[in-house]
Amino acid sequence: MTGNPLSLQPSDRAPQLLVAAGVDVPGDAVIGANVVIHAGVVLGAGVVIEDAVVLGKVPALGGGSKSPQAMPVSTHLGDGAIVGSHSTVSAGAWIGARVYVGDHSLVREGSRLGADTSIGHACTIGRDAVVGERVRMQGYCGLATGVLVEDDCFLGPMVIMLAGITMGAIGKDPAPAVLRRGSNIGSAAQILTGVEVGAGAVVGAGAVVTHDVPPGVTVAGVPARPLN
Ligand SMILES: CC(C)(COP(=O)(O)OP(=O)(O)OC[C@H]1O[C@@H](n2cnc3c(N)ncnc32)[C@H](O)[C@@H]1OP(=O)(O)O)[C@@H](O)C(=O)NCCC(=O)NCCS
Repeated sequence: MTGNPLSLQPSDRAPQLLVAAGVDVPGDAVIGANVVIHAGVVLGAGVVIEDAVVLGKVPALGGGSKSPQAMPVSTHLGDGAIVGSHSTVSAGAWIGARVYVGDHSLVREGSRLGADTSIGHACTIGRDAVVGERVRMQGYCGLATGVLVEDDCFLGPMVIMLAGITMGAIGKDPAPAVLRRGSNIGSAAQILTGVEVGAGAVVGAGAVVTHDVPPGVTVAGVPARPLN
């Protein structure tokens, strides 16, 4: 399309579908209206891309952004993945087979969603965050840059996992939060920077988790303490 700064071309596959040159849209893909697929996107067989989805977007960075300026360009959607309407999958994200991305979600550059994982409505998966396989994440969860969620975890709605500066501990730069395999996180819990939740542990609804949780232990409250 002449004059289009993103070098996108209209396609006859769906109303208002714009596809960058070189992107192959599989014949069995289901594509909604007003979808934009940028350069470097690789689509698996049978993907479902709902209305108003943007794939492979290189984020526009504001002047104060600390995000890397050089973005990875290859974006992967595995076989049978579903991306819900109005979601954005940034450049360099890797989405495994049969993953479900809920409507209005944002999957940032360099992040990874393992096979058979499901993320609910309006979730944000931060830059370079890693989510394992068969994870169930309900709506409105927020994962900060670089956090790790291992296989088979469950996150209730509105769970927040943090990374980066603590604000209370100037000069410290602790690791992003981690959920080990099979842990269960109650609704609206917050897992603070540097905290590791052990395998099979349970975090109560509304907890603020400030210290590591041993495997298999249940914690609740603010700050979170083990339940007797
Ligand atoms: C933490 C949790 C797992 C504990 O369940 P449980 O082992 O059955 O515990 P109980 O209900 O017997 O409660 C034990 C004690 O912990 C307290 N408690 C329970 N959940 C709590 C919570 N989230 N925060 C603070 N205290 C909590 C109870 O009031 C009770 O205190 P008491 O002995 O002084 O009365 C559960 O209450 C919870 O928060 N689950 C998360 C559910 C969720 O968010 N699911 C999302 C899906 S939609």
